[in-house]
Amino acid sequence: MAFTRPEPIDEEIALDNTKYIESETDTKGIITGCNDYFAEISRYTKEELIGQPHSIVRHPDMPKIAFKLLWDRIQQGKNLTAVIKNLAKDGRYYWVFTHFEIERDINTKAIIGYKAYRKAVSKHIKELLEPLYKNLTEVEKIGGMEASERALNDFLKSGGDDVTFDNLMEEIHRFY
Ligand SMILES: Cc1cc2nc3c(=O)[nH]c(=O)nc-3n(C[C@H](O)[C@H](O)[C@H](O)COP(=O)(O)O)c2cc1C
Repeated sequence: MAFTRPEPIDEEIALDNTKYIESETDTKGIITGCNDYFAEISRYTKEELIGQPHSIVRHPDMPKIAFKLLWDRIQQGKNLTAVIKNLAKDGRYYWVFTHFEIERDINTKAIIGYKAYRKAVSKHIKELLEPLYKNLTEVEKIGGMEASERALNDFLKSGGDDVTFDNLMEEIHRFY
């Protein structure tokens, strides 16, 4: 399928906070399955989604460093929760809490894929993370990923010596 990235528009898709947006991928991030709600919200059909890289819903406002942290983490076999802004086929966006889980072969225990469960994020969290992500995206454009990693670490340090991206996301998850 020839894929033209949708042009983002500044319009949010309202999510039903009783439903999860679910998808699963192989070890490279190629979508191998998803639920109906993912198709409904992203405005793609399941047929359009399955077989595509998960970056099909990547929003340009998301900093690359967030995905680097995600992949570093899940490739080590560790679960993770992250807040992500996604892009639908019609250019609109939706923010989600995404919980990533590792799928392993029952016998060899080797990682065979990943699963993601997403739910709605409160307005408060969006307002907290939007300026951080915007800043990191801008820093990246000028100084690349190393610069944004430094900027993220500086931001985390301002919250205390032991704050990591991971526990920031966990704290946010717990309190909002
Ligand atoms: C199970 C799983 C779910 C993912 N879900 C999303 C998602 O909802 N949105 C997104 O932008 N990236 C998601 N990713 C990350 C993408 O694979 C990719 O790293 C990201 O979109 C950045 O794209 P890029 O590496 O081409 O810059 C997911 C990855 C996995 C393994």
